[in-house]
Amino acid sequence: MSEKGITIHLKVWRQSGPDEPGRLVEYSVGGILPEMSFLEMLDILNEQIIGKGEVPIEFDSDCREGICGTCGLVIDGVAHGPRTATTTCELRMRHFRDGQTIIVEPFRAKGFPVIKDLIVDRTAFDRIMQKGGYVSTNVGSAPDGNAIPIPKEVADKAMDAATCIGCAACVAACPNAAAALFVSAKIAQLAHLPQGHAERTRRALGMIGQADEEGFGDCSNHGECEAVCPKNISLETIAQMKRDYIRAMLRR
Ligand code: FES
Repeated sequence: MSEKGITIHLKVWRQSGPDEPGRLVEYSVGGILPEMSFLEMLDILNEQIIGKGEVPIEFDSDCREGICGTCGLVIDGVAHGPRTATTTCELRMRHFRDGQTIIVEPFRAKGFPVIKDLIVDRTAFDRIMQKGGYVSTNVGSAPDGNAIPIPKEVADKAMDAATCIGCAACVAACPNAAAALFVSAKIAQLAHLPQGHAERTRRALGMIGQADEEGFGDCSNHGECEAVCPKNISLETIAQMKRDYIRAMLRR
């Protein structure tokens, strides 16, 4: 690496619209410092592209600190790239070599149609949440912290599930394009707590049913979702969701 940083060669998916054909376009970008994020590298590339009077590469981002779930790229075939428990916006360029060629593509799934370049429509997740990813019963005002005793291991499970940021990497990684890890995390974060019990049956049926309608596949226990999840959501949540679903079907 020179004092001015490394040079990265890129093959980036360019697609001008949902119904337009797409293709990989080659670029090279120099002056990339190790502490830069992957998105900052794309920002520099876009400055170059704009400087030439061409159309910059479209990609999603917001917080750029791994908490909002907006960013999401498939980097060399892996959702969010080569680092475990890392979102695209947190991925640093120190993990790539000078002169390396990197292929950058959007998350691909039937439920996530490409809008432009690297941006996909992830509103399917919003519609799944609208089918039960909340508590609608009247739970009153905020209770005292010790008014509803919840064992720590139960609270920890709920909190672990609640760390899901809805980035959709689980769908992009799954050979079935299943949304099971996302849906199960959103079900589990409420199912473990007493406030979520009243609507547990309706929530499982509604959210899983909507995921089916959106065209996401079924879970067949590949585990790719867990491997790429930037928040380390466990496959155990899927097992929990399946138990909830079977129970809900029997009750219905
Ligand atoms: S931009 Fe918010 S998680 Fe990456």
